[in-house]
Formats: sequence, C-alpha cells, structure tokens
Amino acid sequence: MALLQTVDLLKKFPIRPSGAMGRVWNSLRGMGGEERGEAVYLHAVDGVTFTIEAGESVGLVGESGCGKSTLARLIARLQDPTSGAIAFEGRNIGGIPASRFIQGEKRRKIQMVFQDPTESLNPGFTTFRAVADPLLRLGGMRSGPELRKRVEELCALVGLAPEFLTRYPHQLSGGQKARVGIARAIALEPSLLILDEPTSALDVSVQAVILHLLEDLKNRLGMSYLFVSHDLNVVRLLCQRVLVMYLGKIVEAGPTREILRHPRHPYTRALLSAIPAINTTERTERVRLTGEPMSPIDPSPHLCRFYSRCPQREERCRVEMPMLTPYPGGIEAACHFPSEKRENIGTQTTVS
Ligand SMILES: Nc1ncnc2c1ncn2[C@@H]1O[C@H](COP(=O)(O)OP(=O)(O)OP(=O)(O)O)[C@@H](O)[C@H]1O
Ligand SMILES: [Mg+2]
Repeated sequence: MALLQTVDLLKKFPIRPSGAMGRVWNSLRGMGGEERGEAVYLHAVDGVTFTIEAGESVGLVGESGCGKSTLARLIARLQDPTSGAIAFEGRNIGGIPASRFIQGEKRRKIQMVFQDPTESLNPGFTTFRAVADPLLRLGGMRSGPELRKRVEELCALVGLAPEFLTRYPHQLSGGQKARVGIARAIALEPSLLILDEPTSALDVSVQAVILHLLEDLKNRLGMSYLFVSHDLNVVRLLCQRVLVMYLGKIVEAGPTREILRHPRHPYTRALLSAIPAINTTERTERVRLTGEPMSPIDPSPHLCRFYSRCPQREERCRVEMPMLTPYPGGIEAACHFPSEKRENIGTQTTVS
C-alpha cells in the first residue's frame, strides 16, 4: 500500500475580475449570473494523480505559479480540494475538512516545512518554544524536564547548539531559522514530510548544508519526502523520483535518473537543459522557451497546457489533451510527440 495516493486532485480558485469587467461580473452575480455559469476559476491544480511510497523521496518541480505550493497544501490538508481523492496510509483524508484535520491523529503524520522560514516562525517564540509547540499541542507532552530533553534532542538532530534555544527568530541567521522550521516539523515524527522550497530563501552555500541535513535526517528517521522546488538540480540530489508540473498538471513523472537520462516531455527537456552540470558536451545548447505561458483561468479541456510555448506543437495538441502515458524505465509523460532520442534536448528552439 502506498503511503500517499492522490487521484484526480483538483483545486480551483474563484476569480473576481477587476475594473469594468468586475462591475459587469458583480451585476451578473446579483442577477444570478453565477448560476448561469458566469463565474471564472483559476485552475491551480488540475487533475493530479500520483503516489508516494513509504520511505520514498519524491521531487515536485515546475516554474513559479504552476501550482506546487497549492498541491503541497492540499496534501498537508491545509486547504480543501475542489474534487479528487487523497488517501494516506489507505484512508481517504481528502474529504476531511482542513479545519477538522488539524485536530486529528493524521495531522501528526503529515508535516510541512514552509517556503520562507522567516514568515513561518512566530517572531515572539524562542527556538525552545517554537520546537516545543507541536509537542505540547499535538504530542501530548507537558512542560517539564522531559519536554526540555526532547527539544534539546531535536535541536541536536538538526545541528542547533543549546545556546540557540533562548533566541528569537530575529536573532537567528536564515540557515538557523530553516533548522528551527525543520526541527518543529520533525518533532512529531511524521511519516511524510512536505518541504516547500525549504532552501529557496538561503545562500547557495547554506542551501547545500541544509540539503545535506535533510538527506541525513531522511536516512536516520525513515521519513518520506515530498520535496517541492523550481530547481531540478536540487531535486536530483535528494529524490529518487520526480514529478514535473506545468500549469496545474503533471506532464512527466518517473525515477529521477531515468528522467535525467531520457526526458520525453519538451518542458522537462527545457528544464534539464538549463542545468549547467548536466548540460555537458553532447548537450551544450539550451532549449530556450519563448512564447507566453497560457492563462490558468478556465483553460480549455482539450488544449495541451504547454501548447503556447512548445517547440514541437502540432494541430493534434490543440484539439486533444495529451494524457500521461507509460514509457520504458518507469517514466510517464503527457505528450503526443515525446522525444525518442536521449540527446535530443540540445537544439536551440524558438517558438513564434
Ligand atoms: N488563494 C488563492 N486564490 C487565488 N489564486 C491562488 C490562490 N493560491 C494560489 N493561487 C494561484 O494558483 C496558482 C498556483 O500557485 P502556487 O502558489 O501553488 O504556485 P507555485 O508553483 O508554488 O509557485 P512558486 O514557485 O512561485 O511558489 C497561481 O496562479 C496562484 O496565483
Ligand atoms: Mg510555491
């Protein structure tokens, strides 16, 4: 049984147009226009199906705004999906309202490390209080020597010396704040840790140290990770499997090594060719994507989401949405014209 499985997960946000359009829209709403189908929706997560096995690290990559954080928040049950299922350890948790899930037993097992440690830490909490907080609220512990011991243990695990226990967030560096965020998240020994770009606010050198720490923790504590990043280069260091997301949809998924070796989707090839370390001898030229990304507002159910920027689009891609299709090596890709060649990512491409 998979640790986590999502089926056809969808999250749409209602959008209220501004200005003159907004006034027209509001008047239509007043006249029952919404019922007549006048509401417009931003499709942030649009039919996402994937699994995470126990002990597995899965990377979720894609450019800004493609829906990574929304997907992460749905799984952590901080937001309610519009439709679709989320099963955790075989039980459907997708239907439990986020407001109720927060008090439940499963809350302990799925924890999240947020994008910006500065925003996610309470400025009025010392390191001790920040790390003790989940233990007191959800872990059934009480103040006392046992709590102190557990907090000290957790801080040692993430490499925070005891002198930091009495410090407030503004007295900590970015890397130290990231460590506090991680210590908090692992305090309840979750089986799934969702990391939403945990190193994006950090210097490159500190990023490497934190990634190393995460790898070490994963091995020691046997957690599964969903590691969100816009950078495939970071994901390949930590994750056995990767999901590539574009405008709310998974366009390619599979073992990281296979995807690096033979990406089938043109968007994955563009992401890959931007990594200097991989872009060696035979792959010297970059795939540059031109053209505007399509709007995520009520997109056509038939048009491939990548159509406007795809270097190899054809008529079929306009009328038939490509579905995820299996390929050798455990890869799935959603493209009518997947790449056959391993080195086929090297051509300079322009889209008019
Ligand atoms: N509460 C909301 N209401 C309306 N739209 C939203 C809401 N939250 C997210 N969105 C929209 O959903 C889309 C996906 O946003 P999301 O934050 O999931 O992207 P992301 O991939 O995490 O981006 P980044 O890499 O910049 O963090 C964006 O178009 C965003 O504007
Ligand atoms: Mg995000």
